Amino acid sequence: MSGKFAAALRAVLLITWAIPSSALVVERQTPAKSGAYTFYGCQTEATNARALSGKSTAYDTMTVESCASDCAAYTYFGLEYGRECYCGNSFGTGSVSAPVSDCSFGCGGNSTEKCGAGNRLSVYSKGAGSGTSSSTKSGTTGTSAPTSTTQPSGPGPQKTGLPAGWVYSGCMQDNIPSKENANTQISVFPYKLADSTTNTATSCITQCQKFGFNAAGLEYGSQCFCGDVQNIKVASAPTTSTNPNDPQAFTYSAPPATYDDSQCNAACSGNANYYCGSGNRLTYYTWTTSPVKFNFPTGSAAGSYSLLIGGVVVPLITNQAITGKVTFVEKSGTGEPNGTGAYELDLSQINNFQNAWRQMTGLKTDVFCAAGLTLPDKAGRQITVGGWSGQSNYGIRLYWPDGSAGVKGQNQWTEDPTNLQLQVPRWYPSAMIMANGSILVVGGEIGQNAAEQPNLEILPRPAGGNTTVYLDFLQRTAPFNLYPFIMVVPSGIFILYYNEARILDEKTFATIKTLPNLPGAVNDPTGGRTYQLQGSMVALPQYAPFTDPIGVLACGGSTSGASYSIDNCVSTVPEAANPAWTIERMPSRRVMPCMAGLPDGTYLIANGGQHGVAGFGLAGAPNYNAVLYDPTKPVNQRMSVMANTTVARLYHSEAIVLLDGRVMISGSDPTGDYNQPANSFPEEYRVEVFSPPYLLSGLARPTFTITNKDWKYGSAITFTSSVTGVKVSLLGSVGSTHGNSMGQRTLFPAVTCSGTSCTVTTPPNAHVCPPGWYMMFVLNGPTPSVGQFVRIGGDPAGLGNWPKLTGFALPGV
Ligand SMILES: *[C@@H]1O[C@H](CO)[C@@H](O)[C@H](O)[C@H]1NC(C)=O
Ligand SMILES: *[C@@H]1O[C@H](CO)[C@@H](O)[C@H](O)[C@H]1NC(C)=O
Ligand SMILES: *[C@@H]1O[C@H](CO)[C@@H](O)[C@H](O)[C@H]1NC(C)=O
Ligand SMILES: *[C@@H]1O[C@H](CO)[C@@H](O)[C@H](O)[C@H]1NC(C)=O
Ligand SMILES: *[C@@H]1O[C@H](CO)[C@@H](O)[C@H](O)[C@H]1NC(C)=O
Repeated sequence: MSGKFAAALRAVLLITWAIPSSALVVERQTPAKSGAYTFYGCQTEATNARALSGKSTAYDTMTVESCASDCAAYTYFGLEYGRECYCGNSFGTGSVSAPVSDCSFGCGGNSTEKCGAGNRLSVYSKGAGSGTSSSTKSGTTGTSAPTSTTQPSGPGPQKTGLPAGWVYSGCMQDNIPSKENANTQISVFPYKLADSTTNTATSCITQCQKFGFNAAGLEYGSQCFCGDVQNIKVASAPTTSTNPNDPQAFTYSAPPATYDDSQCNAACSGNANYYCGSGNRLTYYTWTTSPVKFNFPTGSAAGSYSLLIGGVVVPLITNQAITGKVTFVEKSGTGEPNGTGAYELDLSQINNFQNAWRQMTGLKTDVFCAAGLTLPDKAGRQITVGGWSGQSNYGIRLYWPDGSAGVKGQNQWTEDPTNLQLQVPRWYPSAMIMANGSILVVGGEIGQNAAEQPNLEILPRPAGGNTTVYLDFLQRTAPFNLYPFIMVVPSGIFILYYNEARILDEKTFATIKTLPNLPGAVNDPTGGRTYQLQGSMVALPQYAPFTDPIGVLACGGSTSGASYSIDNCVSTVPEAANPAWTIERMPSRRVMPCMAGLPDGTYLIANGGQHGVAGFGLAGAPNYNAVLYDPTKPVNQRMSVMANTTVARLYHSEAIVLLDGRVMISGSDPTGDYNQPANSFPEEYRVEVFSPPYLLSGLARPTFTITNKDWKYGSAITFTSSVTGVKVSLLGSVGSTHGNSMGQRTLFPAVTCSGTSCTVTTPPNAHVCPPGWYMMFVLNGPTPSVGQFVRIGGDPAGLGNWPKLTGFALPGV
C-alpha cells in the first residue's frame, strides 16, 4: 500500500516540478557570493562509494555557501546529513536522481537551506543554468542544465490566512503501528473526512473547528482528518472494543514522529499553491484558542457510582411510580426462564433483597420494544404500548401502582390483548401526553427489517374507524427514526427523528415548521440521533414566567455506515425565529446514551458504547464515564467528566432520577438472551445509582412539607421549607428506554418565601407544562431536598375512566 502511494507521490512530484515555474510559489534564494552555481538535484550515494569523491568537509555550521566555497575547485558539490560536504567532477556509478523532497534536512548552519538527508545529497553545479527542469535529467550523466539556483523548497504548507486561532504545527507521521497488533496501523487523528478534490487547510480546519476539534491534519493532498492535540500523544480511541478488526481498539506503539516540512509535499487537491501532507505524512494544524473546555472535577465533585442492589431482571423500561417504588419490565426471553418480566423495587428495602423486589404478573404480551409513560390520572398509572411480535405489536398494558414504603403492593399489570389494542402494529414507538391530556403514540415499525409504521395515533382511540395519521417524513427516513423524540411545545408538537426535526400542529398533525437538519458526526452529516443510531434527547430547563421558548438538547448517536459513535451534543430552540443547531463536543463518543434531567437543572449523560449502533451485538467499547451537562454555563464549557463505573451498559439500559436525587442506572442486554454467548458483555442484572456532586458536598439537604399535591395551572400553592430563600424544580415523571425519557421536562416555577413559609406559583398552562405527575424538589443552592410527587393540570382527557373493560380497575377522574 504505502509503496504504491509513495510511487504515486513521486509521480505527483515529477509532474509538479514539470509545471512552468511561474505557476508555482517557489522560494528562490540569492545565489552564493562565492561564484555562480545552480541547484542540480537530489542524488543518492553511489554503489559502495561516494557519489562525489573528490574532497569532503564536515562541520556543524554547514551552509550551501560554505560547501560551495569548500568545493571551489570542482564542478559539483553536494551536501548530506545536514553537515557534510562532498566535491567532485563526476558522479560515482550507482548514484541516481531521487525526489527533491528526499533531500529534506536543513543545513546545520542555516536551517532554511537544505543539506540532503541520509544517503541523499543536495547537489549543485558550477555556472548558471537555463532551460530544462531538474526533474528531467537522468541523474547519472549530470549533463542537463538545472533551472534553480538553490534547492526549491516547493509550495510548502499554508501558514498564513488560516481561520483565526489556528497555527501550522508541522509535518507528522501518520498510520502508526499499534501496540496490540503489529499488522494494524492507527490513524493519529480519529476522524477521516472523505477524500475530496477541494481539500485545503482552510476547508479542513473549518470543518474540524465546527465540531469542536482542536487539531486538523491533511494527507495525500486530498484527505482531511480531525482530532485533538491529545491524539498525538495518546490514543484517544477506546482500547476495549469488542471488535478486533476495529483499528480504534488499539493504542499506538510510539508517538508519531515529526519530520521536516519538506516531507509533507503533496499539493492540496483544492489549491496547488500549498502542500497538504503526503503519504503517511500529515501537515497538521492546531487551534490554540479553542473554546472547548471540559471540566475534570475530582473527589466528591465528580459524583460517585455505587451498587444499589443486585437485580432479578434485565430491564427494558424503568419508571419510578408515584408510590416511590420503581417498576421494571423486561423483554421476554431476556432474563431467567422462571422470571415474569415485570418487577417492582421498594427503595426503602434495599438491604433486604426479598422485601426489596416484588415479582409482578399480568403481562400477556412482550414489551420488547415498547414505549412507557406515567399517565396524568389520579392514580399515576403506568402504561406501555407497542411491542413485538404478533399480538404484542399492538400491546397496551396498564399498572396502577399501590403499596407503600415497606409494604408490598397487590396490583399487577393488566392487559386485554383482544379488546384493547393499538390500531396498527408498533415496534419502537414513542408516546407522550398531549397538552389536551390524550396519549399520542408515534411511529415504530412492524418487525425486524419489516415495513415502517409511518403514522401516529391517539389513545384513548377516537371514534371513527381508522384514525391513524400518515407522516410522510417517517416513511422517508426509515429505518433510522424509531423511538422518535416527541414533546409538547407551545405552538404544537416537536418531533426529532433521525437527523431531522419539525413542529407539528397539535390538532391536524400537519407540519407547521421544519427545522434545519441536525449536524451529525464531523465526518458524516447523515449521522443520526434516534434508534438504531440511538442518541438521547431532553428538554432543557424552563424558567418562570415561562415566556422564553423551550430548548432541546440531543447527545450522542451514531453513523449508519462506519458506525462511529457520535461525540457531540446539539441543541436548539425549535420555536426561535430561525433556529440553528449549536454543536458541543462531548469528552467521549457515545451511542445509546441515557440522559437524566436532575433537580438542579443539570443533566447526567451516562451508559452506552463508544463504537457501533444500537441493537443486539451491534456495539462495543462500553463508555464507563458519566458526564454532567450544565446548560447555565457558556457553550463549550458545559461538560464535566464525572466518575466512572465498571459496569458496561450497552443495548437496553436506563437512567432515571429518583425522588432521593440520585440517578438509578440499570440494564444492559447486549445479546437479548440470558444464555448469552461467551466473550460478550453480560446480560446485566446489577442496579447502580449515581450520586451527583450535589449529594456529596456535605451541605445539609433542605426538607419541605406540602399538603396540596394536585395543582391547577397558574395557582399559588403554599409549603413550608426547612430553610428560607429556596428554589423549586419540577421534573416530569419518566419512562426510560432506549435513550428516550418519555415525559421528561425540567421546570423552575416562581417561589417566594417569608421565613420558611413559601409559595410556589404553578406553571401557567398545559403547553408549558403538559398534564401529569412531576417530582417537586426544593433546592438550597445546588442541594436538593428529597422530592415529592405532585400532579399538575389534572386529567383533562379523562384517562382515569379508561379503558372501560372487564379486568381494568379505574381510578376515575
Ligand atoms: C539562510 O539562507 C537563506 C537562503 O539562502 C538566506 O536568505 C538567509 O539570509 C540565510 N541566513 C543566514 C543567517 O545566513
Ligand atoms: C430463577 O432461577 C434462578 C436460577 O436460574 C434462581 O437463582 C432464582 O432464584 C429463580 N428466581 C425465582 C423468582 O424463582
Ligand atoms: C390505518 O391506516 C394506516 C395508514 O395511516 C394503515 O397503514 C393501516 O393499515 C390502516 N389500518 C387498518 C386497520 O386499516
Ligand atoms: C386531543 O387532540 C387530538 C388531536 O386533535 C384529538 O384526537 C383528541 O381527541 C384530543 N383529546 C381531547 C381530550 O380532546
Ligand atoms: C473517569 O475516566 C475518565 C476517562 O478515563 C477520566 O478522564 C476521569 O478522570 C475519570 N473520572 C474520575 C472522577 O476519576
